[in-house]
Amino acid sequence: MSTFWSVWVIVIVLGTIFGCAWLLLATRKGQTNDTETENTTGHSYDGIEEYDNPLPKWWFYLYLGTCVFALGYLALYPGLGNYEGLLGWTSTNQWEAEVQEAEEKYGPIYAQFGETPIPELAQNEDAMKIGQRLFANNCSVCHGTAARGQVGFPNLTDDDWLWGGEPEQILHSIAKGRQGNMTPKGVMPNMTNEQVDQVVNYVLSFSGREKDAEAAEAGAAVFAQACTACHGADGTGMQAVGAPNLTDNIWLYGSTYEWIKETVVNGRQNQMPAQEGRLTDDQIHILAAYVYSLSN
Ligand code: HEC
Ligand code: HEC
Repeated sequence: MSTFWSVWVIVIVLGTIFGCAWLLLATRKGQTNDTETENTTGHSYDGIEEYDNPLPKWWFYLYLGTCVFALGYLALYPGLGNYEGLLGWTSTNQWEAEVQEAEEKYGPIYAQFGETPIPELAQNEDAMKIGQRLFANNCSVCHGTAARGQVGFPNLTDDDWLWGGEPEQILHSIAKGRQGNMTPKGVMPNMTNEQVDQVVNYVLSFSGREKDAEAAEAGAAVFAQACTACHGADGTGMQAVGAPNLTDNIWLYGSTYEWIKETVVNGRQNQMPAQEGRLTDDQIHILAAYVYSLSN
């Protein structure tokens, strides 16, 4: 805050406090001890008159007390422009102290969990409660509070994995992040519209939902050429490149002809953001165990 605004704030704040105190004292009408008099203001409404009594004393002193309190408070804590207060309190150092306290309290617990193997940690109720909270704070925006995912964000509770469900694979997904990348029309950029229709029907036929059996049959050759590099010869996917299993009728995107056609024509780019650096290694370890526990 510049000096000008600092002085501006100080003048207004002190002016208000002293102004209130002055008003209180100035209107006290040289009161004696009696706070109940017969004086009236002279106003009369429907025969009801208004007394002109001084403020009750307790009220008067309470009011004065608040002015004194305000001055004391402003001497100790920041509030007057750039003046920092005698106690040197700031919201930042209060927060830092709280963080440090939390670290002292939870650090050893986290460290202990961090050393427990993931499958074992997944059985630990206390650790999983922490995991659930970490998940709610850091992951649920994308994967949902129940970790069931949504279009484009994988369900983490089923046993269907893009990148693998082994402890090490889950840990890697969370710590390093993942880039799902399907090129448009697979590795066959010159695919014709007819071939697109054929291969989409072929993919639908994995779950017995093809629209056109003949096209689906013809699609096998297109698939072999354009898709197997990532999805495998039998369409069951390849975790090394994050290519999903197309035969299990579990879908990251929509399962209809239109959705699958869109995936084939435009390809898909998807990203799981790396948590390394955002969260501590111990927190990531606990989260991996939590994700592991959801499907094991
Ligand atoms: C910004 C959105 C976003 C956030 C936040 C996010 N994820 Fe993800 N996550 C994704 C996407 C998108 C994918 C799928 C990547 C792909 O398509 O290859 C994914 C994939 C994963 C996978 C791999 C799933 C599989 O099938 O192999 C795991 C495990 C995972 N996330 C866990 C987490 C955890 C734990 C957190 C919280 C620390 C988290 N994610 C936070 C978007 C997010
Ligand atoms: C370069 C590797 C690669 C090739 C080639 C490829 N895909 Fe994919 N495909 C992927 C990846 C990776 C994903 C997951 C994208 C994501 O994470 O969002 C995917 C996703 C899909 C999906 C969405 C699955 C779902 O669960 O919603 C369909 C359908 C699909 N591919 C079909 C095909 C077909 C058909 C071909 C051949 C024309 C093909 N892919 C070729 C890598 C590939």
